[in-house]
Amino acid sequence: MSKLRIAVQKSGRLHDESMELLKNIGISIDNGKDQLKASARNFPVEVFYLRNGDIPQYLKDGVVDAAIIGENVLIEKGEGIGVAEKLGFSTCRVCIAVPKSMKYNGLTDLEGKRIATSYPNTVQKYLDLKGVSANIHIINGSVEIAPNIGLSEAICDIVSSGSTLFKNNLKEVETLLKSEAVLAVSPVLSEEKQAILDKIQFRIQSVLKGRESKYILLNAPNDKVQDIINVLPGMKSPTVLPLAQEGWSSIHSVISKNEFWDVIDELKAKGAQGILVCPIEKMVL
Ligand code: PRP
Repeated sequence: MSKLRIAVQKSGRLHDESMELLKNIGISIDNGKDQLKASARNFPVEVFYLRNGDIPQYLKDGVVDAAIIGENVLIEKGEGIGVAEKLGFSTCRVCIAVPKSMKYNGLTDLEGKRIATSYPNTVQKYLDLKGVSANIHIINGSVEIAPNIGLSEAICDIVSSGSTLFKNNLKEVETLLKSEAVLAVSPVLSEEKQAILDKIQFRIQSVLKGRESKYILLNAPNDKVQDIINVLPGMKSPTVLPLAQEGWSSIHSVISKNEFWDVIDELKAKGAQGILVCPIEKMVL
């Protein structure tokens, strides 16, 4: 039986969460950081530890079948490679930044200027779209230093917390795109491998849905149960169980993690007591 070859970042911002996701979907790997590849013990998967920037080409060539990679890298180097799933971690944006001291009125201020970046294609496309012509200087790594050493007037790089820009006295002036980790798929995938990928994708979706939700348990007097159910839709409908104490029920349901504080205020106001909110590991609908 063939194995699905999945590339993950060898080191860098995506590595740990990529490995964590594989673990959460039940793929156990004997992880050795110095290894180039490792086979899963319990699933037809081989993990390749590769340099971020090399992964798109390996996908295009079919050397690997799928990859956990930043959208930013895929947009820069991965034309024709499909995204099977957005993974919700390693969020960042690709931005143009200039020295804080520069008066910036718009992209036309960079006409004829030098922009240092590891994202030449992304920058060129953006400049073309806006009808601005600038000189792109390709640098790999420590891009933010470029204006300080007189190499360029502006830079374009990924920004996450913004602390690297801050430390280098730069300010963000244009956002070219927003990015997160994705599951990318090679355009040349056999049917057999597609079937393995479908199983992986199903497991990932269960984990992601679980992360978006919370399991909630609470107690309420029986005459308040309907009021409370009205604000707790649940997956199908909430579970209502009698408590040992007469006249009381326990209600169990699932709520979106983004709205649970608002819902909890409402539940308290409607008479709920002993509210417990728990994480959900996986959710299969
Ligand atoms: C990236 C990027 C910036 C920094 C931005 O580097 O090149 O330097 O992160 O993050 P921040 O806004 O949270 O400060 P990374 O650490 O991924 O390593 P790299 O230099 O290999 O790209």
